[in-house]
Amino acid sequence: MPAWIFSDPDVYARERDIIFRGPSWNYVALSCEIPNSGDFKRNSVGDMPIVVARDEDGNANVFVNRCAHRGVRFCRQHRGTTPEFMCPYHQWTFNLKGDLIGVPFRRGLRKQGGMPSDFRLEDHGLETLRVTERNGAIFASFDPKVETFEEYLGEQMLGYFDRVFDGRELRVLGYMRQSIPANWKLYVDNQKDPYHATLLHYFLISFGLFRATEPSFVKMDSTGRHSALTSQKGDQGDFTGTDEMKHNDAALALQGTQMLQPEREFAGPDTVVINSIWPSVIIQQQSNTLAVRHIIPRGPGSYELSWTFFGYADDDPAMTKKRLLQANLMGPSGLVSIDDSEVVAFAQRGSEFYGQASQVVEMDGGAEVREAETLISEGAVRGFYGYYRKVMAL
Ligand SMILES: [Fe+2]
Repeated sequence: MPAWIFSDPDVYARERDIIFRGPSWNYVALSCEIPNSGDFKRNSVGDMPIVVARDEDGNANVFVNRCAHRGVRFCRQHRGTTPEFMCPYHQWTFNLKGDLIGVPFRRGLRKQGGMPSDFRLEDHGLETLRVTERNGAIFASFDPKVETFEEYLGEQMLGYFDRVFDGRELRVLGYMRQSIPANWKLYVDNQKDPYHATLLHYFLISFGLFRATEPSFVKMDSTGRHSALTSQKGDQGDFTGTDEMKHNDAALALQGTQMLQPEREFAGPDTVVINSIWPSVIIQQQSNTLAVRHIIPRGPGSYELSWTFFGYADDDPAMTKKRLLQANLMGPSGLVSIDDSEVVAFAQRGSEFYGQASQVVEMDGGAEVREAETLISEGAVRGFYGYYRKVMAL
C-alpha cells in the first residue's frame, strides 16, 4: 500500500468529491440530540459543514451550513433550538427544512435596488442531503441516488448496528473531542486492526483485560468497506488476573477496578463490538461503554475525532455510572484510546516524509480480503483499502 494516500492534497480533494459527496451514508447526529421541532446540531459530512435540524413535521433535515447567497457558514452554535436560521451577512433566512423564506430588501428601497423581478425564493434554498433516521441514529448523504441505509450496511452489519441501536430511546452521557495530526484513514484503519490491540495497548495487556486468546472475530460486509471486530470474554467479571497477565508484568496490579466491572446487557456471546461503517464512523460497544466515534477529516494531515457517549433513557443510575466509569478507557486521555491517537500521529509522520514508500498489510491471508476468527488479522484493513482504491479509481 502506497504511503502517499495519507498526505497527497489531490487525493484528499478527490475523497471529498468521490467519497463524502458520493453515494455514502454519513453519521450526523443521534435523534435524542434533536428531539423537538426547532432543535438543531452543527456537524460535518467529511469536512463539509452541515446542519441537522428537526422540523415541525418531526422529520430530521440535513442541509449545508452555507448560505445560498454568498456562501457564509451561517450557523455558528454547536447545538440549540431555533424557529429559523438567519445568515449574519445579509440576513437571508431559511426555515428548518432549508427553504429560503426571507431576503431583506428583496424589493429594494424607494423603488431602487432589489432583486430582479424573476427572483424566486424557491430557487435559492440550501443544498439539502438525503436523510435516514434509524432507531435513534441519523445519517445523511449528498447523493440522492444512494442505496437505502439498510442495503448499504448489508444484513450482517445491520445486525451489529441494530444490536446497539435497538429502538430504545437513547440518552447522551457526554462528549469528547480531539484533534489528531494524522490522515483520517489511519484511524479507520486502526479501528479495523485487532492485531495491534494485543501489543500496543499496554493498559489492557498489563492488567489482563484483553487477551489474544479470547474468542475474537473480524467480520465484513460483501464489499469490505464496513467491518465489525468482536470479542467474547467468558466471564466479564474476572479482571483479577490471568496467567498471561502475570507473565506480562507480575508487579502491576490494578487497584481501582470499579471502572472495569462490566455487566452483560446484550444478547449473544459478544462483549466487545467495534462496528466501523464506511466511510468515517465507528459504533463502539466496549462492555457497557457505548459511543459513536465520528471521524472528521481536517486536511490531509489532520482529523477531528468526535466522541458521543450514550446510554438508554431507561438505564438505572448504577448502569449509567458503569457506562461513565468505563468511558475512562476512551477519548483523548482514555487509558486505551490515548495509544491509538499517538500511534496514528506517528504513522502520519512516517508516511508524510516517505511518500514513495509502501506499507505491508498481509497478516492472515496475504493480499486476500477475508474475515477471521482471530485477532491476528489485517483482513478488514485490506477490505477497507481495497474498496477505497476501487471507488477512488487509484
Ligand atoms: Fe487501539
